Amino acid sequence: MENILKYINDNREEFVDELKEFLRIPSISTNPDNKKDVRKCAEYVKAQLEKIGLENINIYDTPGHPVVYGEWLKAGVDKPTILIYGHYDVQPVDPLELWTDPPFEPTVRDGNIFARGSADDKGQVFIHMKSIESHLKNTNKLPVNIKFIIEGEEEIGSVNLDNFIEKNKDLLKCDYVVVSDTAMFDHDVPSICYGLRGLAYMQVEVTGPNRDLHSGSFGGAVNNPINALSHIICKLKDDKGKILIDGFYDDVLNLTDKERLEYSKLPFDEKKYMEGLEINEVFGEEGYSTLERASGRPTLDCNGIWGGFQGEGAKTVLPSKAAAKISMRLVPNQEPEKIEKLFTDFVKKISPDSVKVTVKSLHGGKGAITPIDSPGVNAAVEAMKKGFGKSPVFTREGGSIPVVNTFQTLLNAPTILLGFGLPDENAHSPDEHLNLNNFHNGILSIAHYFNELSKI
Ligand code: BES
Ligand code: ZN
Repeated sequence: MENILKYINDNREEFVDELKEFLRIPSISTNPDNKKDVRKCAEYVKAQLEKIGLENINIYDTPGHPVVYGEWLKAGVDKPTILIYGHYDVQPVDPLELWTDPPFEPTVRDGNIFARGSADDKGQVFIHMKSIESHLKNTNKLPVNIKFIIEGEEEIGSVNLDNFIEKNKDLLKCDYVVVSDTAMFDHDVPSICYGLRGLAYMQVEVTGPNRDLHSGSFGGAVNNPINALSHIICKLKDDKGKILIDGFYDDVLNLTDKERLEYSKLPFDEKKYMEGLEINEVFGEEGYSTLERASGRPTLDCNGIWGGFQGEGAKTVLPSKAAAKISMRLVPNQEPEKIEKLFTDFVKKISPDSVKVTVKSLHGGKGAITPIDSPGVNAAVEAMKKGFGKSPVFTREGGSIPVVNTFQTLLNAPTILLGFGLPDENAHSPDEHLNLNNFHNGILSIAHYFNELSKI
């Protein structure tokens, strides 16, 4: 390992410079205008996999954005095969004016690299690429068999990935899946995540009269779609944060006493949390702590809402239409399709006849709980100790990586979530960044991890 670790240390700056090239590509998967950039990014990933020494590299087209694959399978049949998964697509950048520097012009400030995708997930994908490079460049081999799959649609629900995996089960056959697309619990607290939430994302559209109306002539006599939509939204949740949709909690996998005890031991400072967000009070379902609410319990949130006049000044108008995007984070065991139906039925039930209400499902994904007692996890603990000089904590996270559930069901492989982001690195927001110490320690940890995995 000595020469490998030396290579990683010697190339600390060089790796950051190389990462910048990846971060410059605006691979926003949800935006049709960026389709060519997403493709360009897949080509970049392919070139990187070639550069670091993987074999059998391919760009697989899907009905959406491509999947990139590469492998190195010469460690021998007695060594485990590790499937590494990540995504090269990124979230949109709006509101652009809130970025200190342009989102696709990576900048290093105060030990962080700022750019869209730096933490989620290009920087973390790059950690794996550089760990592989460090082994292959210095020893001409890897201690384990590696398969690497990087997709371009994670941020839009991995819509075509399940089908790709289903069709390529042999290609992807493995003993463990390793994913770096989560966050560490806090600065200097390396973490292994063992639970992710699922998602059901809905759009509700409300139409009233066939055209915008003068609110003086018609107000009071015709229902206003914005008011009607607001009433609908208010009835979805009580004022303590409990979701009121019939049957919503039926399949919820409740937190065990042991889990709740572990949650309570995590080094969480609620005061600091509130200060960081400039809020006076936390909010959520009664009977649960902030950490439990944010990762172990389901939620419902309005992500966007529009309708009527939004310009400067006042316009007296009774609008014809209003709409909202509403997402529900689900916990393991809750089926997105079932929740979509419960949501739709409930919204229809509470909608007044004076407006037309349509409900669409945009996308969804299942939550996951991963085993924490496997040799693959023990090896990860050892690797993190070596990479960060500290034992990792075990956490559950509130975000979603839909494919983790698919890996567990279709490939029957336990997934290990080793995240190197931080909760305050602004993933999905302006000024997204990645801490460069964690980037470096991440590369060291993964390099050690391959070694540790070869011993099991
Ligand atoms: N990296 C995140 C997942 C994540 C977020 C894990 C926060 C842990 C904490 C991932 O890229 C992501 O944003 N996923 C989407 C999935 C969705 C579009 C189905 C998410 O969670 O919104
Ligand atoms: Zn994301």
